[in-house]
Order: sequence, then C-alpha cells, then structure tokens
Amino acid sequence: MSDAGSGPFRGRRLRRTPALRRLVTEVRLHPADFVLPLFVKDDLAEPAEIASMPGVFQHPVDSAVRLVGEALEAGVSAFLLFGIPADKDEVGSSGWDPDGPVPRLSRAVRTAHGGEPLLLADVCSCEYTSHGHCGPLDDHGVVDNDAAVAGYVRESVVYAEAGVDLLAPSGMMDGQVAGIRAGLDAAGHRDLGVVGYAAKYHSSFYGPFRDAAESGMAFGDRRTHQMDPAVARDARPELLADVDEGADAVIVKPALPYLDVVARARATVDVPVIGYQVSGEYAMVAAADRAGWVDGPAAMEESLVAIRRAGADAVITYAAVDVARRLA
Ligand code: PBG
Repeated sequence: MSDAGSGPFRGRRLRRTPALRRLVTEVRLHPADFVLPLFVKDDLAEPAEIASMPGVFQHPVDSAVRLVGEALEAGVSAFLLFGIPADKDEVGSSGWDPDGPVPRLSRAVRTAHGGEPLLLADVCSCEYTSHGHCGPLDDHGVVDNDAAVAGYVRESVVYAEAGVDLLAPSGMMDGQVAGIRAGLDAAGHRDLGVVGYAAKYHSSFYGPFRDAAESGMAFGDRRTHQMDPAVARDARPELLADVDEGADAVIVKPALPYLDVVARARATVDVPVIGYQVSGEYAMVAAADRAGWVDGPAAMEESLVAIRRAGADAVITYAAVDVARRLA
C-alpha cells in the first residue's frame, strides 16, 4: 500500500503519542487471557523451586491453594493442573487415584475459592508411569494407543468428580478427545469441556517441564505421536480431527517458535485457540534476564503479545501472575 501525502509514513504518525498507540493497537494483553500451570506434588513439605524454571515451584496442596488466591487477586483466574505422584507403575494407575495430587488439589481449591477459579487438568500418563511414557507399553516397548486412551478416560472422570472444569489430554494419542468425551458423558459430566492439545510438536522446549513434572523418559522419545517440527501441514488435519471428536477448544504447543501454526489454527477452526508458551520458552527468557542480556519482563510481555497477535485467544504461561501484575 502506498503512503498518502507528504511527511512521515502513516504508521509513524499513528505511533507519535502513547494515546495514539493505544488507540490503534491490535492486541491488548489482559490477565483474563492467561492460564497459569500449577505443579502439585505428593509428600512435599515446602514449595520446591524448579532449577531450570526460576520463579516456578512444585507445590504441596496448601501452598498451591495459596498461589491460586494470589493469582486471583492479580486477575488470573484459569489454572492448568499437573500432578507428581508418590508412586509410579507401568500403567500409570496413580493418575486415576481419587486421592492423587490433582484431585486433592482440585477439591482443596474448591473448598478455599469456590467456583471462581477455572480449573483445567492436563490429562496424560507420563507423570504417573515408571518409564515416563504417555501410556502403557506394548511388547515392543511402544505406547499402546488404546490402552493409553482408556487410562486418560479414567483420569478424566476422576478429575471431573474432583471439581475440574476442563479436561486437556496432552498425550497425542489417536481418539483421545472422543474417548474422553464419551467417558465424561457416560459418567454424567456432559457439561464439562475437553480442550485438545491438537497441534503438539515434538519439541526440545519441553525440557524444563520434565524436571518440573518429573516425567523424563527412561528410554526412547515421542517422535511418532508428537508432530514433526519441520511439518506444518499436519496441523490442519490434527486440529480438525480434535474438533470433530468434540474438542471445545484447541491448544497449539509450543507457541512462540510455532506462530505460523497458531495462525493456521486460527484460520482453520471455529473454536478458541490457546497458545502454550512452554517451559523452555519461559526458561530462555528467565535465563537471559538473569544474565542481564535481555529485559526479561519486557521480553516475556512481547512474547505473549506475539502469540496473541498470531491468533491465540488465550495463552498458557508460567509468567501469568508476573505479567498480570505488570499490566495492572
Ligand atoms: C505431557 C505434557 C508435556 C508438557 C505438557 N504436557 C510434556 C511432553 O509432552 O513431553 C510440556 C509443557 C511445557 O514444556 O511447559 N503431559
């Protein structure tokens, strides 16, 4: 587009004062757009900081409940729950223990804060299996897709019964959204939604998360069920399949290195698109901030603007409370 008239480029005239910039902005961050992940661990006495994620902690139930209260005060009202169990086995059965970390936290949050917080639960088995894979293994040491989904359904019903609002299966197993939808309906939870981790890439940026969730793998990787970073075209069918199976919203993950996928998702589906700014994205900014190499809070805010600008309606971010306070 050519610029009309003489003088500075039109964009510059519209950037001249703070009020002008505010008027014409396309993206305004708001704490209501943020989802804060929470790690709750069995048998933990005190919050334990995650070395690779400065400022992020594994929590016992009581301190996680306090953090929810602080986040609510800052305007952040959505939380994504991850549990770290005391016991792990081959199939991940502590994932569907009604007294496991996620159901206990969910009930405690409901007791302390009622219905105000929105609780999402990550549904997967990798935190609950002894080998760290996303479900039971077959005779070849490969995740058994349908057995994994059966486990996710059991987890989901237990979480729903404990007061969780939205179930977010992250294992990238085929049919996981349809399985959970059917399981919730059969258990009388027709009104609870499923958020599909629909476009989830096989990413090095999940590294710090595996420290946080203690879900590192004993062997192998997730290259066959998670998506290939060099292939964008798989995103569309993955997203459409999740919506077709009944997903009420979809997640794209990671977010900043995959803004093209976020934009594709926004153009592909008519449900909310949530970008997940993952652990490694957080850790990079935190590390550079510590070294004095970038202005961490500003870089974090800019990352979230970029993710929203690409088309995400909401963002899952470990920096939710910090950024919300900065916006206030
Ligand atoms: C699986 C799960 C992972 C993350 C969220 N859910 C790890 C994985 O797929 O290996 C990563 C989140 C992050 O890096 O912040 N339960």
